[in-house]
Amino acid sequence: MSELKEVLTKDGSYSLKSEFFQENFHSLSGALEETKTKFTTPSDLTRFKGKSIEVLDICFGLGYNTASLLDELIKQKSYLKFYALEIDKKPLEYALRNKSFLRLWSPKVKKIFESLYLKDQFEDKFFKCKILWGDARKKIHNIPETYKFDLIYLDGFSPQKCPQVWTIEFLSMVTQKLYPQGYLITYSSSAAVRKTLRNLGLEIFSIKPHINSRTCWSQGTVAIAKFDENKFKHNTNFKKLSLMEEEHLLTKASIPYRDQDLNFSKEEIISKRLDEQFFSKLLSTKKWREKWGMTKSAFRG
Ligand SMILES: C[S@@+](CC[C@H](N)C(=O)[O-])C[C@H]1O[C@@H](n2cnc3c(N)ncnc32)[C@H](O)[C@@H]1O
Repeated sequence: MSELKEVLTKDGSYSLKSEFFQENFHSLSGALEETKTKFTTPSDLTRFKGKSIEVLDICFGLGYNTASLLDELIKQKSYLKFYALEIDKKPLEYALRNKSFLRLWSPKVKKIFESLYLKDQFEDKFFKCKILWGDARKKIHNIPETYKFDLIYLDGFSPQKCPQVWTIEFLSMVTQKLYPQGYLITYSSSAAVRKTLRNLGLEIFSIKPHINSRTCWSQGTVAIAKFDENKFKHNTNFKKLSLMEEEHLLTKASIPYRDQDLNFSKEEIISKRLDEQFFSKLLSTKKWREKWGMTKSAFRG
C-alpha cells in the first residue's frame, strides 16, 4: 500500500503518487491550488467565524485539505470538532518531513499534525481532532453514532482506482453523518458518484471551474441533504448542474458502484458494475460525449 513517490506539482507544492493505486494524490497542476479551489473555497468557512464547526475528512492523505481548513479556522478563531479517516500513515509521515509543505501553514498546523501522527488526536481550547487509522468502510463505525458534521470532505483516489470509498453503501453511511444543511464536498464529478448522492436523497451541485472549457466543466461536487434556497443564493462557488451534466446522469456512467457487505475488493466492485452496465438500457456514455463534443476529462475525477 505504501509505495509512494514524491511529485512536485506545477504550483510548486509537493504531493505523492501511489504505485499501489497507480494514481497521483493531487492534480499535477497544483496540490495546493486543488485543495483551495475544490475543498476550502466551496466550504464557505466564513459562515463559522467565531463559531463552532464539525468536520470529517475522509482520505486524509498528506493532509492538504485539513491543513488548509485548520489554517483558515485559526485565523477566524472558530472552534472545531474534527475526525479524519485514513488507511495509511505514510503520507502524513511524509508531510511532517516536508518543510516546504509545513511552511504553507501556520505553525499550529504542524503541532496538530504531529499530535495526530503520534497520538491519533489533538485537543486545546479551540480544536478537538481525532484520526482513525484503517479502512474507512470499517472505521466510520468508530465515530459516535449521534455525531453529525457541517462539512465532509471526500478525497479518495478516483472511483475507477479506489471504488471502495465511492459505493452506494459507503456513501449512504457517510451522508447520514451530515447535518441537514451540511456540505459533502468532493473533487469528483463522476456521474456514478453524483447519481448515487442524488439517489440517497441529497441535492447536488457542481463546483464552478475558473474557466469553463470542454475538458474542465466542473471542479467537483457539493451535496446537501436539506438544501435551503435562501442560503444557496449567497454561495457563488457552486451552481446547479448544467443540462450537459444532467444528461451525464442519464448514461451508463451513472450506474453506481456497489459493495453490499462493505468488504468487496476493488476488482469485485468494478466487475459487478461492468456487468450491470452491460445489461443496462441507459444511454451510452460515448453518445453523450459525442453530443457535447467532449474528450475524456483531463483532470482527476
Ligand atoms: C487522493 S489521496 C488523498 C489526498 C489527501 N486528501 C491530501 O490532502 O493529501 C487518497 C487517500 O486515500 C487513502 N485511502 C485509500 N483507500 C482507503 C480506504 N479504504 N480507507 C481510508 N483511506 C483510504 C490513501 O491512503 C490516500 O492517502
